Amino acid sequence: MIIKQKVMRNVSLTAHPTGCVRYVEDQFAWLDAKKGSDHGDRFPKRVLVIGGSTGYGLASRMVAAVMGNAATINVSFEREPAEKKVATPGWYNTMAFEREARNRRLYAESLFGDAFSKEMKQAVADLVEKDLGQVDLVVYSLASPMRIDPETGETYKSVLKPIGKTYTALSVDVQSGIIEKAVIEPAEENQIAETVKVMGGEDWQLWIDFLASRGLLAEGIKTVAYSYIGPEITFPVYREGTIGKAKEHLEHTAKVLTGRLKNLQGSAYVAVNKALVTRASAVIPVVPLYIALLYQVMKEMGLHEECTQQMFRLFTDRLYKDNDVPVDEEGRIRLDDWEMREDVQAEVDRRWKLQTEGESLVKGDLEGFRQSYDQIHGFGFDSVDYEADVDPRKI
Ligand code: NAI
Repeated sequence: MIIKQKVMRNVSLTAHPTGCVRYVEDQFAWLDAKKGSDHGDRFPKRVLVIGGSTGYGLASRMVAAVMGNAATINVSFEREPAEKKVATPGWYNTMAFEREARNRRLYAESLFGDAFSKEMKQAVADLVEKDLGQVDLVVYSLASPMRIDPETGETYKSVLKPIGKTYTALSVDVQSGIIEKAVIEPAEENQIAETVKVMGGEDWQLWIDFLASRGLLAEGIKTVAYSYIGPEITFPVYREGTIGKAKEHLEHTAKVLTGRLKNLQGSAYVAVNKALVTRASAVIPVVPLYIALLYQVMKEMGLHEECTQQMFRLFTDRLYKDNDVPVDEEGRIRLDDWEMREDVQAEVDRRWKLQTEGESLVKGDLEGFRQSYDQIHGFGFDSVDYEADVDPRKI
């Protein structure tokens, strides 16, 4: 079948197998070019990535495998392909990654399904026990709109809303490039608690506790989850909004987990990452405008990074540099250091003020936003023939 991109309200409904392979190949090529130094020696050899099929999780998996020759297990939620139905990009990415990893004689397996469930934790633990014995690093990189509580069966939904008062700010329509006003009503009390249930640290803790109870965490185990802070302009909808409450909970969980992992000389971290175009971030109101401006400014200053570059810095300059992992006063790893630099933020702020409702975005990198978004779904690569008849079940 001929696979076209279909986007509805910033959500891409399709993915292209050949393009996803291309995306993964590009990440391999970038990482291969970085090899040859001694980084890899300190890297973990057995890595579990929860949410490792797209975005930051896929990048973490690839850095661990390519730079450190790690055996990796991924857990992610995917729609598998059928004769006339495309799979999720995470499915194609995973197939492409694992094929190449095995060519390199690296162990690479995935379990597809709901990471929040008890069954999945059980299945992953069995696989780790059977094939790896233990793990040295657990990456927790889930971004999900909902979670079914494994104890009660209750469904919780996460929302991206301000708390206490309506938030009004400029945004950009990614398709048309026109600046528009976003008005977001405040969350109900229960929506705050539900967002914390989905995107907070409860499930991360369940994973670590469960793996520990089965004796599957190696001495010196590290675990990391990802957070975001961002600029003041997005505080009401992000850091001080419902998702910010969940991230506070996640950050607190890191401290709890570090306490629990003491007997293994282990530690838990939250890394605060840069704002990037992923399937999860593209649907956050106001974020597309911020990202379009940020990309332009950071590209002009030679500071721009994508997921793979961010995760490369996480492993080489933070987690596995030496025994002391550099953290901020709250104990968080900061990979948003370049994004949050004063000169970067001042320029983004200046350009934000140039935007006018109803007019086209000025001095921003909307093309870069669109290209990143297309490419993480396997579209927008010059080298891919999008008119070709492809079998969606094959990569
Ligand atoms: P993403 O949408 O690219 O990846 C999410 C991953 O979670 C995918 O592998 C997906 O399959 C998996 N997943 C979702 N629900 C699942 C479930 N029920 N069971 C199993 N797997 C499931 O998202 P992204 O952006 O890479 O987000 C990962 C983390 O990074 C999130 O905590 C996010 O808040 C954080 N982060 C993202 C930033 C960004 O700008 N994209 C910035 C800073 C932090």
